[in-house]
Amino acid sequence: MAEETSRRIGPVVLLGPPGAGKGTQAKRIAAQYGIPHVSTGDLLRDHVQRGTALGQQAKEAMSRGDLVSDHLVCDMVKDRLRQPDCVRGSVMDGFPRTVAQARWLDMFLEREQGCGDKAFFDKSMSGKGLLIVIRLDVDYNQLLHRLTGRRTCPTCGRIYNVHIQPPCVADTCDLDGSKLVVRDDDREEVIRERLAVYERQTQPVADYYQRKGRLVTVQGDLPVDEVTDRIFRITGRVTATAEGG
Ligand code: AP5
Repeated sequence: MAEETSRRIGPVVLLGPPGAGKGTQAKRIAAQYGIPHVSTGDLLRDHVQRGTALGQQAKEAMSRGDLVSDHLVCDMVKDRLRQPDCVRGSVMDGFPRTVAQARWLDMFLEREQGCGDKAFFDKSMSGKGLLIVIRLDVDYNQLLHRLTGRRTCPTCGRIYNVHIQPPCVADTCDLDGSKLVVRDDDREEVIRERLAVYERQTQPVADYYQRKGRLVTVQGDLPVDEVTDRIFRITGRVTATAEGG
């Protein structure tokens, strides 16, 4: 996949319920534009695995399928977005997930990266980058089917699905031969709770961006490559607008 590594991109926010394909598509956007994939789920799982103070606080909520508290997640995201590799943009997967997080992100982008609402409405600020919010829509039963079949490579992070995108050799990563794992929160009762939490707490985030005229919805139940094509059409168009094209 060709990389575009000179322009400022986004940040791109991927919204969507658990299993919508955010992680799958975020990896492709990151590779295409040479920007980092910032997954709050991956960052939190890494903290849990390392047993950090944040990991210890997050662990219980995550295993129930609940959200980790806003202030912990926003502090973690702030540290990540301040890293030098985020200077040209980033693709955010799993953040924001509450309206409070969305408001916090708007403030952060305005203050620290010059690409908040002001840049969106003031065309003279072209070149600063524009927040691109894409929601992936997928039917509930399809989400359940996807999540119960998901397998992940613990070494390279590649995502598979035993029903839809199986590896060439069962339970083995095609890229590095690692044994694939099932995520702790991909048990059916936890999946149902995560989907309910999405409806309650994250659907209002989509409404928040919709009211601002920033939300673009992509049908997420198409084949993976087709979803990627549709996303690239949006990112290409918005990026051209941001550059005054
Ligand atoms: P997180 O890791 O963000 O999980 P999630 O949002 O529940 O999303 P998933 O990773 O389950 O799904 P996805 O949309 O990335 O789908 P994927 O590409 O893997 O969060 C985990 C937990 O951390 C939360 O529950 C919470 O506790 C905490 N947390 C994280 N962020 C937080 C925040 N901001 N605030 C508070 N708490 C936070 O695809 C799924 C499957 O479908 C795969 O098997 C894939 O191969 C397959 N697939 C993908 N696309 C397609 C397609 N087009 N067609 C067919 N199959 C497909």
